[in-house]
Amino acid sequence: MTSPRTTLSLVDTDPAELAVDAIVIGVHSQTTEQESGSPAGALLLASGAESIAAAFDGKLTETLALLGATGGPGEVIKLATLGTVTAPVVAAVGLGPEPSGAAPAPETLRRAAGAAVRALAGAARVALALPLPDDADAPAALRAVGEGALLGGYRFAGYKTKPQPARRAPVAEVLVAVPDAADATAQAEVTRAQAVAGAVRTSRDWVNTAPNELRPPSFADAVATAAREAGLGVEVLDEAALAAGGYGGILAVGQGSEAPPRLVKLTYTPEGGGNGKRVALVGKGITFDTGGISIKPAQGMWEMKSDMAGAAAVGAAMLAVAALKPSVAVTGYLPMAENMPSGTSYRPGDVITMYSGKRVEVLNTDAEGRMILADAIARACEDGADYLFETSTLTGGQVIALGKKIAGVMGTPELCERVRAAGDATGEPAWPMPLPDEVRKGMDSDVADISQVNAGMDRAGHMLQGGVFLREFVTDEVAWAHIDIAGPGYHSGEATGYWTKGGTGVPVRTLLHLVDDVAANG
Ligand code: BES
Ligand code: MN
Ligand code: ZN
Repeated sequence: MTSPRTTLSLVDTDPAELAVDAIVIGVHSQTTEQESGSPAGALLLASGAESIAAAFDGKLTETLALLGATGGPGEVIKLATLGTVTAPVVAAVGLGPEPSGAAPAPETLRRAAGAAVRALAGAARVALALPLPDDADAPAALRAVGEGALLGGYRFAGYKTKPQPARRAPVAEVLVAVPDAADATAQAEVTRAQAVAGAVRTSRDWVNTAPNELRPPSFADAVATAAREAGLGVEVLDEAALAAGGYGGILAVGQGSEAPPRLVKLTYTPEGGGNGKRVALVGKGITFDTGGISIKPAQGMWEMKSDMAGAAAVGAAMLAVAALKPSVAVTGYLPMAENMPSGTSYRPGDVITMYSGKRVEVLNTDAEGRMILADAIARACEDGADYLFETSTLTGGQVIALGKKIAGVMGTPELCERVRAAGDATGEPAWPMPLPDEVRKGMDSDVADISQVNAGMDRAGHMLQGGVFLREFVTDEVAWAHIDIAGPGYHSGEATGYWTKGGTGVPVRTLLHLVDDVAANG
């Protein structure tokens, strides 16, 4: 199931003369008279809107204020232009207070572009005349506007049998007004934004697909087909290959379902060997998590169709890697299983011999993610990796500790800091968390090498238990980071900014930023 795509390009003609269905400008809110020197509550047009304002004879801010504009973030006020400019509609998007002496932060622009394009659904062609800096920050700002526009224009195709006349079609074409549309740096940012947003959209599509339509075999097929088309190396281990290879963790979780498990490996090899570094990306691919024998309550269980958001992010990020061709080797590992209760399910008390050879005592079949990830991590280390980034909707504890927007990061401290910085740069916030000895001690098993969760099922340090467990399967020479996205991977609320309802595509942009970081800095 794929959503309709939006195209992105640059223009450098006067926004007042653009033949588009709507033109988007930015407005800042002014909180107090003291701060701004103009009347309290007044709006301030952002740069980029000059020629539109001129066409309105200085009455634009006043008119927008009459229509209720405050300039608050996320606000979109539409105004018929009645022939003053070529476009029939001006949409003013709120940017919040004007930052002193600087252009708005990239994330402000990303959200504004997303909100505007989303609000303009039904228009075919839209131009954005937003405030872009003309200094060293220009590429990051343009990247943010491009990503925000393409992601705000996302809509999942869905399954309705009848056409929905009341539903306006997503914007098909976005133009971004820049000083010089032929500028090579600006063009490169458009190309990058298209690849990155395309990957985020693909990962949202996979997450939003109904879980009866996306079980491990069909998910593996969908990823493998897209990856082959993109020119990546593809290897799919089916249940027979997993059994022959000794992938005990993936097999244990998958054995309760009639749809058998898979491990998909995607390989990108840079021309000339790149900078010699090897990056491994690992993503949790539980296509549905009932909890298994340790079954979950019914309320909200449907959202566990998103328990493959990590694998979706890794698979989609690999597609963007194939398009962007960074100078570093990148391999993706996507372990996939459906966690079901049945007569063949694994059970609490089972002892599983993992791919690494370690033995794990199962205490709760609902802690299934770490079982499949441990095997994929061990395989990635065996294949040879310098940096390993793993991402998963792993624990409810992540949501308790950090909320629905901020991912938890555990692992090699230096790498966790790089993940935090990447999240900061991309608008996908992530926060480093510790791996305490005391939490590891609590996972000592009487019978096996380690328990899968705290031996007394104590939920203290819940998110950290996941990190501590996974650490056991990372070999010493590999720098690793575990990114728990239980909260940020899925958005249950109404659309806001460039986040639409359902899969968010987090952390695709972080992973791609990290790949670039390793390509540039080792
Ligand atoms: N997929 C869930 C975690 C999750 C919870 C993701 C909420 C997104 C939203 C995971 O497999 C799980 O069930 N974790 C358990 C672990 C426990 C049994 C040790 C949890 O978080 O309660
Ligand atoms: Mn679970
Ligand atoms: Zn799960």
